[in-house]
Amino acid sequence: MADQREAALEYARKNKEKFLKSFKEILLIPSVSTDPAHSADIRHAADWLAAQLRSLGMQKVQIFPTTKHPIVYGEFLGVAGAPTILIYGHYDVQPADPLNQWKSGPFDPVVRGEDIFARGASDMKGQNLVMLKAVESLGKTGGLPVNIKWLFEGEEEIGSPNLEAFISEHKDLLACDFAVNPDSGMIGKEYPTLTYALRGLAYFELRVYGPAHDLHSGIYGGAVHNPAIALAELIAGMHDLKGHIKLPNFYDKVRKLSKAERDELARLPIDDKHFLEVTGAPALYGEAGFSVNERTGARPTLDVNGLLSGFTGDGSKTVIPAWAMAKISMRLVPDQDPEEVHKQFIHYLEEHATKDVRWELTAMAGSAASISDRDNIGVQAMSKALETVWGTRPYFRREGGSIPVVKDMQNLLGIESVVCGFGLPDDNVHAPNEKMHLPTWYKGIEAVIHFFLNLKV
Ligand code: BES
Ligand code: MN
Repeated sequence: MADQREAALEYARKNKEKFLKSFKEILLIPSVSTDPAHSADIRHAADWLAAQLRSLGMQKVQIFPTTKHPIVYGEFLGVAGAPTILIYGHYDVQPADPLNQWKSGPFDPVVRGEDIFARGASDMKGQNLVMLKAVESLGKTGGLPVNIKWLFEGEEEIGSPNLEAFISEHKDLLACDFAVNPDSGMIGKEYPTLTYALRGLAYFELRVYGPAHDLHSGIYGGAVHNPAIALAELIAGMHDLKGHIKLPNFYDKVRKLSKAERDELARLPIDDKHFLEVTGAPALYGEAGFSVNERTGARPTLDVNGLLSGFTGDGSKTVIPAWAMAKISMRLVPDQDPEEVHKQFIHYLEEHATKDVRWELTAMAGSAASISDRDNIGVQAMSKALETVWGTRPYFRREGGSIPVVKDMQNLLGIESVVCGFGLPDDNVHAPNEKMHLPTWYKGIEAVIHFFLNLKV
């Protein structure tokens, strides 16, 4: 057993093709959580994962129904005295549209060059497979050196409406030393990355109503406030010219960055040029006085995620629409509270909406930001594992995206998460032609093998 490390790595290298086959299997399942038409596919993905857990020899494998999509659980508690690690994953994916922009079918996984293309390849079926295949490699070469529990949810991409309650109702089942959350990515393929902070989210739908029905814009233009324009005015007022957000008291609870952290973020190997390249935007934009790494990781932002009003078909139609709608969301940082932000949004609308329109605001997903402990044994074990595989020490970064479960696990289970996944910035997550870089995926499997062995007592 002296060299289980070599044996497990060897197993993983020999079984690359088999691992890829299994990756393709899960990518074939269109487990889109937001669309009720896919609920059978969601169930299929949950069953597929439960079968994987069983074939790995996990115990208590169970599919817990929720009011929407099921949670999959399994455990292996065979190593007395060793730490217990909770592995988190989500098996749901974002919708695939716009379909016509995909080069191959979103649920028809295809390898082109070094990448495999399919919805969920990076976010996060590929990450789940990294964990499963690392565990398989250890299981086949002497057994796991630690205890593990698995928690897969099917609702992450819709804001995890049932997860918090599930965790608080199953605290004993989920009790562990720390969690691993691979729902994230790397700065670049040469730069192994540990994520120590995530932004929160406050998501809203804002509707503005004007006339009782659509109007002829010639007969009535000049008599009523056009709701599309009223909405545009409201949106325009949400930022000042320096990119600051104008909701009242929005910045009151924003934790300031220390000089040390600013220096550290400045040393990350990503700069304006990187952001220009990966976004394809003609120029960058953001809050004055902060670098792009700070603006995306450590400062709150407000975005319009969608706009709808009036006539948008081919040709032209002279109309004043009766209503207009925007999906608006804020990414939050510590110590902002999504419910307080909701109130601030209402105050903003009360102050700025004109009396000639009526508005309705609906709060959708909401979650707080998190900052994780960087010194716990899990982070150390992963950091060493990444260094072994990539030959370079990992970067610690703040992530602009949100993984609400990290904060929920801190609050409800009192545990930290090692947030470390193997996605790349150009993986097109939530976009057409999502992909996973296969050489990085295989390296991820090796890193996770090292990670578990580094925790051996
Ligand atoms: N995997 C992402 C979060 C993420 C994005 C991590 C980019 C690292 C880099 C996750 O699946 C996701 O998209 N989360 C949503 C959360 C929301 C629906 C509550 C997000 O960030 O928009
Ligand atoms: Mn994800």
